[in-house]
Amino acid sequence: MDEKYHLALKTAFASEFSFYLKAHNFHWNVEGPLFGQLHELFERIYTEVYGSIDTFAEHLRALQIYTPASYGKFSMLTAVPDENRVPEWKEMLEELLADSDRMADIFRITFDMAEANGDHGLSNFLADRQDAHKKHSWMLRASLK
Ligand SMILES: [Fe+2]
Repeated sequence: MDEKYHLALKTAFASEFSFYLKAHNFHWNVEGPLFGQLHELFERIYTEVYGSIDTFAEHLRALQIYTPASYGKFSMLTAVPDENRVPEWKEMLEELLADSDRMADIFRITFDMAEANGDHGLSNFLADRQDAHKKHSWMLRASLK
């Protein structure tokens, strides 16, 4: 068992769940002149990410890793910092963009680790997650111009 590899996967999972929650937070709490558009953009993002969570968790179980599944565990592991304030809409876009770029990077790194371990089904999944975050980043970046 490769401890570093397994920790990286648990960190990726906790970070993805934290990203999902932040996008949902922003969907609920966004305000401003672009309310309708941003409310929908954040919904599109959190829905896509949430749709990947169960499959991700079950990939971990297939490697005999216990899936982190509590806010305590997530806060110990996540690379996506919690947001306890209600930022203004532009700051929400900037923050979620930075987090989405971070997620794409996390999936780039964990993809390489999964390939090195011969876990090709998992590496396909991680490649798809990297791609999904690149698209989320594109939409967030485009909304800031
Ligand atoms: Fe909603």
